[in-house]
Amino acid sequence: MISDRMQTAFNDQINAELYSSYLYLSMAAYFESISLSGFANWMKAQAREEHFHAMKMYDYLGERGGRILLQPIQGPETEWASPLAVFAGVAAHEAHVTGLINNMVSLARAENDYASESFLRWFVDEQVEEEQAADEIVQKLKLLEGFPGGLFMLDRELAQRVFVEPAAPA
Ligand code: FEO
Repeated sequence: MISDRMQTAFNDQINAELYSSYLYLSMAAYFESISLSGFANWMKAQAREEHFHAMKMYDYLGERGGRILLQPIQGPETEWASPLAVFAGVAAHEAHVTGLINNMVSLARAENDYASESFLRWFVDEQVEEEQAADEIVQKLKLLEGFPGGLFMLDRELAQRVFVEPAAPA
């Protein structure tokens, strides 16, 4: 049985992951509004990935005998100044989420909850990829400043992204 403190931390993080999904869906809607459908596709894939993160925690908390308690999801931002401003927002948000995951690992250790510490390892590794993916697009957008043609090339590249749910370990 999971501890009350750990249960609360998982419920808070389920909410944070669902908020991430909502934020990226809002970013997708912004990109649709300025006719960058490839960027919108990337954000919709990201939103699905965040929903998957939430469900991974939801399922784990249930397996540990915890009570899943869904909380209100904060309204996301809806307007940004530019594609670069959006991706700078993604990078900042992912750095924030990394901090939340690290705090959960610290709590799992403090609670001697080795199962949760082991479970959270996947999220620690995932955050490295999430931060790197966002930073890479920020760097590309900085290089493209003043070259609208480059923005359309990047739009075509981001149109290729497909989110595939990772297979459960055997
Ligand atoms: Fe679920 Fe983007 O971290």
